[in-house]
Amino acid sequence: MRSTEEINSALKKVAYPGFTKSIVDFGFVKKINVEGESVQIEVEITSSAPEVEEQIKAGVKDALNAVGVESYNLILKKPKMPKESSSKGKNIVPHIKNFVMVSSGKGGVGKSTTTVNLAISLAKQGKKVGLLDADIYGPNIPRMMGIVGSAPEVIGNKVKPILSHGVEVMSMGSLMEEGQSLIWRGAMVMKAIEQLLQDILWGDLDVLVIDMPPGTGDAQLTLAQSVPVTAGICVTTPQKVALDDTARSLDMFKKLHIPIAGIIENMSGFICPETDKEYDIFGKGTTGPLAKEFDTIVLGDIPIEPAIREGGDAGKPIVSEFPDTVTAKRYYESAKKLWEVIAKINEEGGVDNEAIQPTIGVKGTATEGKSACSM
Ligand SMILES: Nc1ncnc2c1ncn2[C@@H]1O[C@H](COP(=O)(O)OP(=O)(O)O)[C@@H](O)[C@H]1O
Ligand SMILES: [Mg+2]
Repeated sequence: MRSTEEINSALKKVAYPGFTKSIVDFGFVKKINVEGESVQIEVEITSSAPEVEEQIKAGVKDALNAVGVESYNLILKKPKMPKESSSKGKNIVPHIKNFVMVSSGKGGVGKSTTTVNLAISLAKQGKKVGLLDADIYGPNIPRMMGIVGSAPEVIGNKVKPILSHGVEVMSMGSLMEEGQSLIWRGAMVMKAIEQLLQDILWGDLDVLVIDMPPGTGDAQLTLAQSVPVTAGICVTTPQKVALDDTARSLDMFKKLHIPIAGIIENMSGFICPETDKEYDIFGKGTTGPLAKEFDTIVLGDIPIEPAIREGGDAGKPIVSEFPDTVTAKRYYESAKKLWEVIAKINEEGGVDNEAIQPTIGVKGTATEGKSACSM
């Protein structure tokens, strides 16, 4: 007869497909029942992709056979994914209708900057928007949204998000002392993300835009497990060396069965304000073929623009401060395209059938024409 502990430690050898951590460490092994010779295991998986199921089945078989367990009963529980019509059970914050995961292969490519400017653009387009800083390793959103030092209001055992630039914002950075850093372990990451979703008094949002830590890891998986992620966006810079990381990020969306809304090509060229001549500092237009490969689109090209960096540092994002600049308009257009994708996913029976959003009147439409590059 086997003990539950023996089975558990055998299952620790089964990596979740595409990740190095095991199904046990991810907390996906929900039940182990051993009665006499009968072994029953219940495993939850976050993807409805058939290959994930097959790989887990094969991994469990190998791991159990290796410790001499030949016969067992494996129950795989698949949470409902966005594309399935009955996915309501899986949303731990059901009053939020859509979730957008903003990812990047690596840090420093402008993921937070993009998240901020897209979130504000969506708010300007009449949506009720929340911005969750889930980059618990480097929470930069408070600075970029101009709320460093603003203490969020605590109501009972919940926390109210801080309203800034028309967007409800919450970040681990607003909940910790300034300059304090935490060392996160896997289980803590999961708990933190769940709490940032559940213990924050988010309004009835049309969309929560989520700034993820760079890469593909626990945070991404936890999020996909906690809420039906409507769509994923990948931010990248155009250098060829960045594109490999980007492909990994896009592949992660596929593995987690998250529809890909598109790629933002950031730091894409620099337009000299004096001559209007364009310089390809990191390259330009390199993400198109990658988007095609993943059957998605480039949501926008954002040039290198000093006002973006200044706005980020000062808590005055470019789409709020200089809405008439070429760059702000590009963010605005990218947000529109993003919303079109979200609406389409919902129409196809997405996250929640009630979530099809009418397009509320677009406020402050950017005026066309040559723009002073705000420098
Ligand atoms: N298009 C851009 N032009 C100029 N500076 C940018 C641009 N995008 C991002 N930055 C700056 O680059 C730095 C890194 O961006 P950030 O959004 O923090 O990246 P990430 O979240 O991917 O680590 C920030 O100082 C930001 O202001
Ligand atoms: Mg960041």
